[in-house]
Amino acid sequence: MSDLKGIILAGGLGKRLGPLTKITNKHLLPIYDRPMIYYPLETLVEAGIKDILIVTGGQHAGEFLRLLGNGHAFGLKHINYTYQEGEGGIAEALGLARYFAEGQKCVVILGDNIFETNLKPYVDNFKRQKSGARVLLKRVPDPERFGVAQLNGRKILNIQEKPKKPASDLVVTGVYMYDREVFNIIDTLKPSHRGELEITDVNNAYIQKNGLEYDILKGWWTDSGTFDSLLRANQLVAKKKHEIRSTKHETNSKLK
Ligand code: G1P
Repeated sequence: MSDLKGIILAGGLGKRLGPLTKITNKHLLPIYDRPMIYYPLETLVEAGIKDILIVTGGQHAGEFLRLLGNGHAFGLKHINYTYQEGEGGIAEALGLARYFAEGQKCVVILGDNIFETNLKPYVDNFKRQKSGARVLLKRVPDPERFGVAQLNGRKILNIQEKPKKPASDLVVTGVYMYDREVFNIIDTLKPSHRGELEITDVNNAYIQKNGLEYDILKGWWTDSGTFDSLLRANQLVAKKKHEIRSTKHETNSKLK
């Protein structure tokens, strides 16, 4: 089995975070002690993915190269980069990865999504999946901010993008695993009312083909694309890092 490709979507203009994003890219803003983009990159590397493409855009794309280089700080030999012109949506950004993916399965992560735990178990489930796609779902108190999944047992019936009246509190997090079909699906998409190619339309197309599987994500998860979620992301990461530090401290004092 060949290795999965990893794709980080870090384009967009981050308008919901203005004026913070007036002079930089959203994914370069700090989350506690690191720039935002570090987190999805670490998430992919921890999940065992080594061949990674970053799709970025806007005025500050060069800063990603300056910051991350070839990814040596993450244990990588090389990072691939590509550029999204304008704001055509998440699915359009993913479409730019077609040549990079070279017909392999891929794991896609949104650049503003932060996960507490290692995603390797879910990625391994996807590796065992013969074809189709896989998403990670999480119960949240504010489902109307996300893609909302309606389930019937192990089956996802549909996903609605930011519905006013959510059918459940289970939302689709920003990790998507796709087989090579995804690029053909993207070709068939029409822009939504906000003028973007929506990732939820891609996932619904997989549902139509009976090809969308899911796992329920363990541990906390947050996006960081609004002021409140950016603050929450900072708080969650700070708490986690303090906990890790105090565990290390305890272990060290026991060893002394
Ligand atoms: C996007 C997707 C949404 C998903 C969310 C996860 O929304 O469109 O379906 O639940 O990411 O972070 P965005 O907040 O980028 O508009």
